[in-house]
Amino acid sequence: RSLTVISAPFSGGQGKPGVDDGPQHLLDMGLVEQIGRLDWTPKFAGHLQFPAVKNDTNIGHVKNPRYVSQSTKNIYEAVKKASTSSDFTLTIGGDHSIAIGTVAGVQAAHPDAIVLWIDAHADLNTPAASSSGNLHGCPVAFLLGADEPLANAASKEEADLFGWVPHCLDDSQLGYIGLRDVDAFEKQYIREHKIAAFSMHHVDKYGIASVVEQAINKLDPEHKRPIHLSFDVDAIDPVYAPSTGTPVRGGLTWREACYLCEAVAETGRLVAMDLVECNPHLEDAKAARETIAMGLSLVRCALGETLL
Ligand code: ARG
Ligand code: MN
Ligand code: MN
Ligand code: MN
Repeated sequence: RSLTVISAPFSGGQGKPGVDDGPQHLLDMGLVEQIGRLDWTPKFAGHLQFPAVKNDTNIGHVKNPRYVSQSTKNIYEAVKKASTSSDFTLTIGGDHSIAIGTVAGVQAAHPDAIVLWIDAHADLNTPAASSSGNLHGCPVAFLLGADEPLANAASKEEADLFGWVPHCLDDSQLGYIGLRDVDAFEKQYIREHKIAAFSMHHVDKYGIASVVEQAINKLDPEHKRPIHLSFDVDAIDPVYAPSTGTPVRGGLTWREACYLCEAVAETGRLVAMDLVECNPHLEDAKAARETIAMGLSLVRCALGETLL
């Protein structure tokens, strides 16, 4: 089975430099070789390039709006092409704003795919609702079509910077696991739109195995739809994945995170995965190595590696 690895070394969706170096560290620690030892034939498609945008001033409080729009559009094109021509697309980030492009790209090839969003955060703020102005907190809002034209833009074109993002996700196509730092707007949206959301409270209460099963049963009761796994490493407890930009205590253990990926792999329907928010420049070198090692384990588990 063919697998394309796309590197998206992008950090414009948030403020901390270094997350753009995540892909190189994953590659240096053996990503492609490790995939090749499993039942896959990986092809590394190279590092996408994100040309700088001049005078990318804030629009309202939204940061790097033109740069994020343009870069995620490049990612969209690359992921669409890869998902159309290979059996599996693995995109390594980069911050989670890249999922604007990865989800839209995978949906173009697999419009019925469900999205499992594994994260401490819901990343569902509209630009207007975001208090940080960081676009890595907004990808899901664009994909669901919850967004509105950007407020306080100087022109109609600027207000519509993210108008190109297809509203490709339906409320019933999205499921969250690992949530524990959700903003007021996001909580209300999840409640009102009845989005399948499993927080760490649910992981504690039911156990990870039951939560994964409940999530898949809710989104796809007939067990026939393709699956896109968008994995933010901050879903995992900072004890195991410390080098990330917005760590939150009380996350998944190493084994819970691996189990989740193994269970999704067992369905045989996983067609795409994103691994995002590994920032090897945060904390010390040992912490960075552990975070990258965690990321590599997640990828191997999602691609069918088993303990026995
Ligand atoms: N909810 C916060 C915000 O909108 C944090 C988002 C963190 N997102 C992430 N992909 N790590 O700014
Ligand atoms: Mn997160
Ligand atoms: Mn839109
Ligand atoms: Mn995220």
